[in-house]
Amino acid sequence: MWPLWGLLVLAGAVGARQVPPSNETARMARFVAHTCDWGALATISTHDPVRGQPFANVFSISDGQVWNSSGVPYMYLTAREISVQDLQVNANASLTLSLAQTSYCKDEKYDPQNPLCAHVIFCGVVEKVTGREADFAKTALFSRHPEMKDWPPDHDWFFAKLNITNIWVLSHFGGIEVVTPEDYFNATPY
Ligand SMILES: *[C@@H]1O[C@H](CO)[C@@H](O)[C@H](O)[C@H]1NC(C)=O
Ligand SMILES: *[C@@H]1O[C@H](CO)[C@@H](O)[C@H](O)[C@H]1NC(C)=O
Ligand SMILES: *[C@@H]1O[C@H](CO)[C@@H](O)[C@H](O)[C@H]1NC(C)=O
Ligand SMILES: *[C@@H]1O[C@H](CO)[C@@H](O)[C@H](O)[C@H]1NC(C)=O
Repeated sequence: MWPLWGLLVLAGAVGARQVPPSNETARMARFVAHTCDWGALATISTHDPVRGQPFANVFSISDGQVWNSSGVPYMYLTAREISVQDLQVNANASLTLSLAQTSYCKDEKYDPQNPLCAHVIFCGVVEKVTGREADFAKTALFSRHPEMKDWPPDHDWFFAKLNITNIWVLSHFGGIEVVTPEDYFNATPY
C-alpha cells in the first residue's frame, strides 16, 4: 500500500478515502504533516518596523520521503533569510499546515477556514540538525523538493527541524483540540 499512498502524496492528490477520521486528531495531525509540502512559519520579528511582532512566512517542509513519515517537519534554511534571522534571536516558532494545499478541500468544497479542511498548528523550537538526522532531512526534503539541490551553495544552507512542543488540530466542528507530542509521534498517518 505504501507506494500508492506515496504517489498520491507526491501528486498532491489527496482523496477523501485517505484522510483519517476527523475525530482521530493525533493521526490527523500526522497525516497533515506528512501530506503538506509547505507551511507558514511564524517567528517573532527582529526587523523594523515590525520588530517584536508576529511574522509568518512560507517554508518548504518534509517529514520524510512520501512513503516514510517521521512526523518531524524538516526545513532547509539559510541565515540570509529574513525569518531565519528572527530564529537566531528567538528560535521559538509556530508552523501552520493545512490540507487546503492538497486537492482534498477543493474536491469536498471545504473552505480553508472550515475545520473539516483539516489544519494543524505546531509550536516549538527550530533547531539545526546534524549527522544522521541531517542525512535523513536531506533525503526527506530533496526527494519532495527537487529544486533544493540547485539552490546557491554560497548561501550556506543547513538542515533544521521544528522540535515540536505543542500541537493544536482543527479537523471537526466543536472546537480546536490539543494533541500531545507523545500521542502525535505514536500515531501513524495511514
Ligand atoms: C472516532 O469515532 C468513531 C465512530 O464514531 C469511534 O468508533 C472511534 O472510537 C472514535 N475515535 C476516537 C479516537 O475518538
Ligand atoms: C524511515 O524513517 C525513519 C525515521 O522516521 C528512519 O529511521 C528510516 O531509516 C526510514 N526508512 C527508510 C526506508 O528510509
Ligand atoms: C521559548 O518558549 C519557551 C517555552 O514556551 C519559553 O520558556 C522561552 O522563554 C521562549 N524563548 C524565548 C527566547 O522567548
Ligand atoms: C526538543 O525539545 C525538548 C523540550 O524542549 C528537549 O527536551 C529536547 O532535547 C529537544 N530535542 C532535540 C532532539 O533537540
